[in-house]
Amino acid sequence: MPVERTLSIVKPDALSAGHLGEIIAAYEAAGLRVIAATVMRLTPELAEGFYAEHRGKPFFGGLIDFMTSGICMPMVLEGEDAIERVRAIHGATDPADAAPSTIRARFGTQVTRNAVHGSDSLASAAREVAFFFPQLGA
Ligand code: RTP
Ligand code: MG
Repeated sequence: MPVERTLSIVKPDALSAGHLGEIIAAYEAAGLRVIAATVMRLTPELAEGFYAEHRGKPFFGGLIDFMTSGICMPMVLEGEDAIERVRAIHGATDPADAAPSTIRARFGTQVTRNAVHGSDSLASAAREVAFFFPQLGA
């Protein structure tokens, strides 16, 4: 399997609830390594740029309000098949649909307040890693 890089964000709900350590532990238990990370509060401009593909959808405004409501932790994870594996560790978008033991089942509370973000393709991973960590290069 190819070694990939993917972007994860621990969202403001999970950080304020104190689940950062457990989330990183789940990644590390799966053999993924954190190779870059930062803790920051997104501005509306950053959040809207990051989620540009969702502009115009009914949940966009609520998503931007939520993502700018507190600090979050974008990080780059590296490992074999990292993009798909991180999304499997996260579970379904709506925590109510997420399989037991996934991060969203454990820590998400609502479809928007779902604890984590993970890149969904090679192309989006490349864009999203560069969005927060331009110094990492291609
Ligand atoms: P993510 O990008 O965060 O890893 O999640 P995803 O691919 O499973 O979900 P996506 O469709 O990309 O949606 C991005 C984020 O928007 C919020 N959302 N709210 N109220 C709603 O119906 C709704 N749908 C999506 C979630 O925070 C989702 O993670
Ligand atoms: Mg997505």
